[in-house]
Amino acid sequence: MANILFLAISLLILGDVAFSHASFPPSLIEDIAKIVMDNYCSPEKLVGMKEDIAAATNNTEVLNIPDGELLANILTSGVQTTVSDPRLQVSYEPNYVPVVRPELPPLPPEQLAAVLQTSIKLDVLEGNIGYLRIDHILGEEVADKVGPLLVDLVWNKILPTSALIFDLRYTGSGDLSGIPYIVSYFTQAEPVIHIDSIYDRPSNTTTKLLSMSTLLGERYSINKPLFILTSKNTNGIAEDVAFCLKNLKRATVVGEKTAGGSVKVDKLKVGNTDFYITLPTAKSINPITASTWELTGVTPDVEVDAEDALATAIAIINLRAQVPAIIEESASLIANNYAFESVGADVAEKLRDLLAKGEFSTINDKDGLETKLSADLQTLSGDKSLKTTSNTPALPPVDYSPEMYIELIKISFHSDVFENNIGYLRFDMFGDFEEVKPIAQIIVEHVWNKVLNTDAMIIDLRNNVGGPTTAIAGFCSYFFDGDKQILLDKLYDRPSGTTTELLTLSELTGVRYGSKKSLIILTSKVTAGAAEEFVYIMKKQGRAMIIGETTAGASHPPKVFPVGESNIFLSIPTVHSDASAGPTWEGVGVKPHIPAAAEAALEVAKGILNKHLEGQQ
Ligand SMILES: *[C@@H]1O[C@H](CO)[C@@H](O)[C@H](O)[C@H]1NC(C)=O
Ligand SMILES: *[C@@H]1O[C@H](CO)[C@@H](O)[C@H](O)[C@H]1NC(C)=O
Repeated sequence: MANILFLAISLLILGDVAFSHASFPPSLIEDIAKIVMDNYCSPEKLVGMKEDIAAATNNTEVLNIPDGELLANILTSGVQTTVSDPRLQVSYEPNYVPVVRPELPPLPPEQLAAVLQTSIKLDVLEGNIGYLRIDHILGEEVADKVGPLLVDLVWNKILPTSALIFDLRYTGSGDLSGIPYIVSYFTQAEPVIHIDSIYDRPSNTTTKLLSMSTLLGERYSINKPLFILTSKNTNGIAEDVAFCLKNLKRATVVGEKTAGGSVKVDKLKVGNTDFYITLPTAKSINPITASTWELTGVTPDVEVDAEDALATAIAIINLRAQVPAIIEESASLIANNYAFESVGADVAEKLRDLLAKGEFSTINDKDGLETKLSADLQTLSGDKSLKTTSNTPALPPVDYSPEMYIELIKISFHSDVFENNIGYLRFDMFGDFEEVKPIAQIIVEHVWNKVLNTDAMIIDLRNNVGGPTTAIAGFCSYFFDGDKQILLDKLYDRPSGTTTELLTLSELTGVRYGSKKSLIILTSKVTAGAAEEFVYIMKKQGRAMIIGETTAGASHPPKVFPVGESNIFLSIPTVHSDASAGPTWEGVGVKPHIPAAAEAALEVAKGILNKHLEGQQ
């Protein structure tokens, strides 16, 4: 280190006039280096320093700087650079008098109470939220003396609250021995937990800090939320308390990343000089994460400016208070409306279990709640359509002119006639029957009639993401004959408990394609919802050959339900296909007759039809 230290110093004084004689002891640098070697909390960072010191000892040029404070600054930056630790400081203080910690004066209780009340702020906020601010963390010795008073004046007022905000934004000092006390008031008496390990360099020993099984007064129930507020000024012992409780998953830390100080800083005199070196002599290693907050600081769970931390914590507490009702309401909605009754009941029960197990107790914002709820619902049900959703209001109906409709239809449908008079029809979404009805004539004229007189048809649903199922019966009907009605599917509606038969229609706009001509439907894993219902029906009826990929395995179009007054919405599939003869397409998709990659499916279909039609000639 001394070598590097010396280099740094040389650079700093480069260009300065040469000093005539040394003002400070020639051993100053060596003495500083030795103190660092013997006391710095991370000796592993100093490996190899001994050799450097020996080499640099002879060079005393820097010591010619006559100004002690200037030299101290130069030495500080040298030491900090060498060890990569800004916590080390060299100072020059000819008048320094070491602080002797005064014995706590034997104040009469009233006076002691008054002193405590000025250093501790206590409040009970709206909603029975406790607020406790402590700017200095007391050590064991002091705590023993004032404990009963603290319990009486402060703690007993906090105990009945239903959540606590512990404000450490201004806590820049404290005593190491206070850590187990503070942490233990927020943990259970048993089992005793290993909360921290402190390595002390001068003694070269590591001490385990354990939670305490006996405490004065009662503990704050572990079922009540605890929030710790932090700022960039939260330093030392307070950081340790925040880090311990965060890693124990007992507290939610809200605010700024903390200072990254040290559990223990000492100021040591350098030989017989007026120079002092201040340095961290112990360090904390968290047993849960095997990491430390020192130097890096504690990263909050919720990072906000220190000045916004209190309001943020209150908002989180209020949100969490609503969570049980939101989960309960979601469970009932699913039990009462989910298409498959027994699955709905099962999901509802498991959701309640998750709530009871505390799975929702670490929610920090509405987005987080929605994301978690959605993921849980999909995992529990295996249904991608059962999830949270945004409630985007339907766009107001647009008054299209006939010309605009024609344009719209041209964009929405692709039709073509290939070689060998093979028709091709592609559309990427199903429309609602009532909405399609008034424009059915336009669709027939501009799309349908182009492919009507072909010898075979390819319906391309590879990009069809579904939509309402109300037009399915009508669309299917074009591929059957008008003389007899066919039962296509039975749709069970869970909220009403009714089953509707899906039958071919006897009246259609335009002319039918009929039941005789070849029909191929192209699918991909994107093909979903109403499109899958169509593919499923046509496959079940033996009316079409399916080529492509297994479809998405989505569901009948879900309905949107508001969850109470929470402004959270659930998308719940409420209808299912007739499952009396086994699973339908819902959740599993429709398997093609001929598997093919989506990109290749059209060529496969053309090849089959060409062969077939050419063979007929
Ligand atoms: C320091 O200087 C002395 C005499 O000038 C020399 O003998 C010694 O080897 C030097 N030490 C180092 C480590 O360079
Ligand atoms: C600290 O103690 C360990 C044994 O517990 C020893 O191996 C190590 O060398 C010591 N380190 C220092 C810097 O004295």
